[in-house]
Amino acid sequence: MHVASVGVTKLCFLFSLAFCGLLLLLIPTLHPPARQVELPQPRAYVRSAQTPPSPPAVAPVSPGHAGGGGGAELHGGRNHTDAARAESGGGAASARPGPRDQLEERDVFIAVKTTRKYHKSRLELLIQTWVSRAKEQTFIFTDGDDKELRLKTGVNLINTNCSAAHTRQALCCKMSVEYDKFIESQKKWFCHVDDDNYIILPRLLHLLSSFHHSQDVYLGRPSLDHPLEAVERVKSDGSVSVRFWFATGGAGFCISRGLALKMSPWASLGNFISTAEKLRLPDDCTVGYIIEALLEVGLTHSHLFHSHLENLQRLPGDGVLDQVTLSYGGLENRRNVVNVGGAFTLAEDPTRFKTVHCLLYPHTAWCPSKPRPRP
Ligand SMILES: *[C@@H]1O[C@H](CO)[C@@H](O)[C@H](O)[C@H]1NC(C)=O
Ligand SMILES: *[C@@H]1O[C@H](CO)[C@@H](O)[C@H](O)[C@H]1NC(C)=O
Repeated sequence: MHVASVGVTKLCFLFSLAFCGLLLLLIPTLHPPARQVELPQPRAYVRSAQTPPSPPAVAPVSPGHAGGGGGAELHGGRNHTDAARAESGGGAASARPGPRDQLEERDVFIAVKTTRKYHKSRLELLIQTWVSRAKEQTFIFTDGDDKELRLKTGVNLINTNCSAAHTRQALCCKMSVEYDKFIESQKKWFCHVDDDNYIILPRLLHLLSSFHHSQDVYLGRPSLDHPLEAVERVKSDGSVSVRFWFATGGAGFCISRGLALKMSPWASLGNFISTAEKLRLPDDCTVGYIIEALLEVGLTHSHLFHSHLENLQRLPGDGVLDQVTLSYGGLENRRNVVNVGGAFTLAEDPTRFKTVHCLLYPHTAWCPSKPRPRP
């Protein structure tokens, strides 16, 4: 019994020693898990350490970090608004920093909207003047075939198969085809004009070169001095209204490829027609709605685009060649033309487009040769 009890005590002692030894050996291996639990804290300190160590500088950083995902969203939101604000910077387009395009004329897709009955009276003048300098990238969207015109002039004439009526549906149908053809073309910029516009091509290229086609750019002249208010029927059931700017189609407008691609869900493959139908708005207003109200990209207001709705005579004569687009009053308002003198009289050139063209390209075959001997 005695021997046995001494043996047990010794055994217990030895066991205790062994257990303590084991514990001592285990302690270092037990530490790391404890450290891992604390890991998030050191990580947070590492971030704060990037800012100056003085408490006031660190303090504003911590609330952002405490928010976790919320902080990231805040940053995302701020970027978005800054970008949108930069795009809509009123008129000061060329002052904008950022990458610029090495732009060539063939990078611009020019869509001219017309109708069969104006092929002779309006289109031929454009083909004789500015279109002749940009044949490869100009596409004429009409509503009837004209094999004769196509063969005679070699222009890209696209029969949209849309109705020839001057209705909202017919105009939106043409815009829808213009959009799809532009996307297909792979060109960098989409510019739309009407068949009574003259494009001063070097100025258009100069203007577009101050942006990059991958940015979100929507350029044109607002037709009103305030945003348009319309009933919202795309995102909601029509119980709220929405306010947005749009560029008047009659003065011409341009859209960068980057932005045009984002318009696709509401504009491609006939979707433009259904978007316009839901809103019950004309083609140019629908473009403004998709860009400003749905994509939240601001219109860059430019007063270098001109429509027949303005008083064109008010444009100073020495500034006419600095504009991007021009127009003329037409039959209803014959006197509403730009004030330029030169090659042709008002009777010879009632729209002034030929005169403008000869000032820009004096070596054109049909322009009067410059030095006219005085009698
Ligand atoms: C916001 O800007 C930061 C820094 O320039 C960038 O890392 C982040 O991706 C941007 N977020 C968005 C949503 O553009
Ligand atoms: C218009 O119709 C013709 C004949 O059906 C067709 O060849 C042409 O591709 C159509 N145009 C467009 C823009 O769809």
